[in-house]
Amino acid sequence: MPNIPLRHGGPNARIAVIPGDGIGKEVTPVAINVIKAATAKRHRHVEFVEFDWGADKFLREKITLPDGAVEMLRDQFDAILFGALGDPRVPSNQHAADILLGLRFQLDLYVNARPTELFQERFTPLKDRIPNDIRMMVFRENTEGVYTGAGGFFKKGTPDEIATQEDINTRKGVERILRFAFNYCRGSGLSAHSAGSSSGLAPASLPNPATHHSAHKPLRLCMADKSNAMTFAGDLWQRTFKSLRAEYPDVDARHLYIDTLAMEVVRDPRQFDVIVTNNMFGDIISDLTSQLAGGLGLAPSANIHPGQTSLFEPVHGSAPNIAGKGIANPFGSVLASSMMLDFLGWPEEAALLKQSVKSALHDDATTPDLHGSKQTLEVSDYLTNYVSKHS
Ligand code: NAD
Ligand code: IPM
Ligand code: MN
Repeated sequence: MPNIPLRHGGPNARIAVIPGDGIGKEVTPVAINVIKAATAKRHRHVEFVEFDWGADKFLREKITLPDGAVEMLRDQFDAILFGALGDPRVPSNQHAADILLGLRFQLDLYVNARPTELFQERFTPLKDRIPNDIRMMVFRENTEGVYTGAGGFFKKGTPDEIATQEDINTRKGVERILRFAFNYCRGSGLSAHSAGSSSGLAPASLPNPATHHSAHKPLRLCMADKSNAMTFAGDLWQRTFKSLRAEYPDVDARHLYIDTLAMEVVRDPRQFDVIVTNNMFGDIISDLTSQLAGGLGLAPSANIHPGQTSLFEPVHGSAPNIAGKGIANPFGSVLASSMMLDFLGWPEEAALLKQSVKSALHDDATTPDLHGSKQTLEVSDYLTNYVSKHS
């Protein structure tokens, strides 16, 4: 909720910074500069503490997520600003699994919120679509599904080899992400202080529905699964969805199979305000929705456990193909930082960051992926100047 800090709120915040690998190291400093510019004149005190966890440290010291890291982040920090992980020298991606998935699981960040918003018509590959046509939120379950690492090999390396990857779905896990999505839809038309949750969970307040969607418009929910083929997990999702739908008769909620959703979201994106789905489908559909509004370079995400230390990151990865060239688009990281400032209870600063990105798009202060000619550092200067001037 605006003005209701989910963590400590107040004038101070401690942010753990994990730039990671590749372009994570290029975009994260831009986000920090912009946050500093936005908070400087507003009597906020933000302390950033950087951690060098990533491929270099893993290759050098064999350490991925250090012992005690989770407890430290949980107890001593309000939020985590994360870049990206992934390095061609670590083909197993072991460090990313330990650090990124490790933090999502061990901090129990069960909501992965991935908003998409078309800022200008020219950024969508879809014909004849205007900004209001493409404005949606994907809520991806973030702590279970096929991501838990359950599974294994039998007779590995032989012609009789078997590999299993288990899809873990718990009643608790399915219900809490669905309930978060229902509450978010319900919260859209309510004022800042009235949208409590009947569930005892924190209000569905992040990101703030009123700032992402047009205020006072009822938000429609779409739950997507593959219950026609994955019958056990699908059955649990279906039953839970139906019981919540009965609890939330005021929310316009429907179901689509995930393959149909992928098709419909391209055919007519105006149908969708809020999508909720499992971990893997959410990973895939959020790359797709990001492309509808200009691509990965513009896509932010928030990994949230309401009221606890949460993690904010761009949707994109480490982009080894452009790393070190100075042309990485920092907007995803800056927009993720905007979500972080909302989470910290600082909606004005959050809005300022988003406004700076909109202004940069308007003025063509963009990197080549958005057809601009600027370097990452030039975009950084544009954003920090804008924010300093308007705060
Ligand atoms: P990627 O997101 O790194 O890149 C996909 C494409 O988009 C590339 O062409 C890249 O140049 C472009 N791109 C991405 N972000 C950009 C930006 N900010 N500015 C300009 N162009 C951008 O995905 P990938 O290539 O499939 O994966 C590379 C590595 O990143 C892999 O190791 C993968 O596992 C990892 N990865 C990590 C995360 C994460 O840390 N959250 C997310 C996705 C992928
Ligand atoms: C993402 C990424 C990760 C995921 C990878 C790097 C494990 O693609 O954050 O979207 O699949 O969650
Ligand atoms: Mn992904």
